[in-house]
Amino acid sequence: MAERYAKITGWGKYVPERVLTNADLEKMVDTSDEWITSRTGIKERHIRAEGENSSDMSVKSAKAALQVAGLTPGDIQLIIVACSSPDYYVPSVASQVQHKLGAECGAFTLSAGCSGWVYALVTASQFIQSGAMDNILVIGTEVISYAVDYTDRSTCVLFGDASAAVVLQPSLEPAGVLTYELGSDGSGAEFLIVPGAGCAIPNSQRVLDEGLSYLKMNGPEVFKFATRTVASSMKRVIDRAGLLPEDIQLFIPHQANARIIETAARMMRQPIDKFYMNLHKYGNTSAASVPLALVEAFEEGRCKPGDKIAVCAFGAGLTWASAVIQLGVGETSAAHTFLSMGRARYYARRTVNAVQDAAQNVMLQVAIKRYEISKWWEN
Ligand code: UT7
Repeated sequence: MAERYAKITGWGKYVPERVLTNADLEKMVDTSDEWITSRTGIKERHIRAEGENSSDMSVKSAKAALQVAGLTPGDIQLIIVACSSPDYYVPSVASQVQHKLGAECGAFTLSAGCSGWVYALVTASQFIQSGAMDNILVIGTEVISYAVDYTDRSTCVLFGDASAAVVLQPSLEPAGVLTYELGSDGSGAEFLIVPGAGCAIPNSQRVLDEGLSYLKMNGPEVFKFATRTVASSMKRVIDRAGLLPEDIQLFIPHQANARIIETAARMMRQPIDKFYMNLHKYGNTSAASVPLALVEAFEEGRCKPGDKIAVCAFGAGLTWASAVIQLGVGETSAAHTFLSMGRARYYARRTVNAVQDAAQNVMLQVAIKRYEISKWWEN
């Protein structure tokens, strides 16, 4: 069987309207535009409207991605939402997204902090490459502002809300994730943590009094971890793809801090203008950060079909995830035939299954009726 790849065929983003600028933050905490800009590169971030939840934002970015791919929600076979700020602890935000989108498929939420979307992209690619599925939505969304303590200047200047999504579909030409690395070092859990309201420290007066349901971060420790990790992990996935950093057209690192990105560029001996940055507009949007940058790079024409992109995200866990992604070029007609045959087999199998399910359902109803009649007869 020919090798299948998982090509990105649709992309979309949603960013809430409300903007929180450095000038606004100067009025809220003891900070300055000068400090935030020079230490992070961030100028403003977007914050959700009241009542706007992660599921709502995900649906908007997903619809945009489906439109680019020319698909409807009914075509989607799996939805993965990378998110650490879900509408509820239970149920999974991905099921809310599936329902609000009107899709009929499996859906699950993936939590790996800011690295979540790259984890989700790699996970979704496996379903496509194995031939199990044809159309998957991979969404990264955060309403991280809900967990930010706006009296804590060390965190509140950094984060913003956003959502971005891609559609993955099969391709016979090299496209999508070529190589990847998924990493975790749980010994660094305390460096980026919401300590309260989980089962370790359940909801209580103490959680409220000590603000334990807010995000706490040891910035310098995460900074050191990130500078150690980004360049080295990207180098490994590039090397595994049989490439050199020079062969990569665009680097898309997690948009946490411009200084971390500049360090990575120096360590990889690559010009900084090959490193995409939009953090000045959005701040750190956690799991939405890498896909949002990818979508904007597409929209701005910063990359074209055939280009190879290296992505790297890092965050709570501590986790990190890197990948080399190739943008697909046009499919050959042979690939089209192969893929449409695959799809025809899929629809034929689905029809047979539906008929079998309907027959089974009738038999089940008959069995239940017979059981009810026998009970009635006994009485
Ligand atoms: O998604 C992954 C998550 N996070 C990250 O990637 C964040 C990684 N870390 C960072 O980006 C940086 O560590 C920060 C931007 C968070 C902080 O920059 P820093 O250069 O590491 O500063 P610092 O934490 O060492 O603090 C330096 C000083 C301190 O004052 P003193 O003790 O030297 O008097 C802080 O209290 O800056 C002070 N400070 C601030 N001053 C003005 C901390 N936050 C602020 C602020 N405005 N917002």
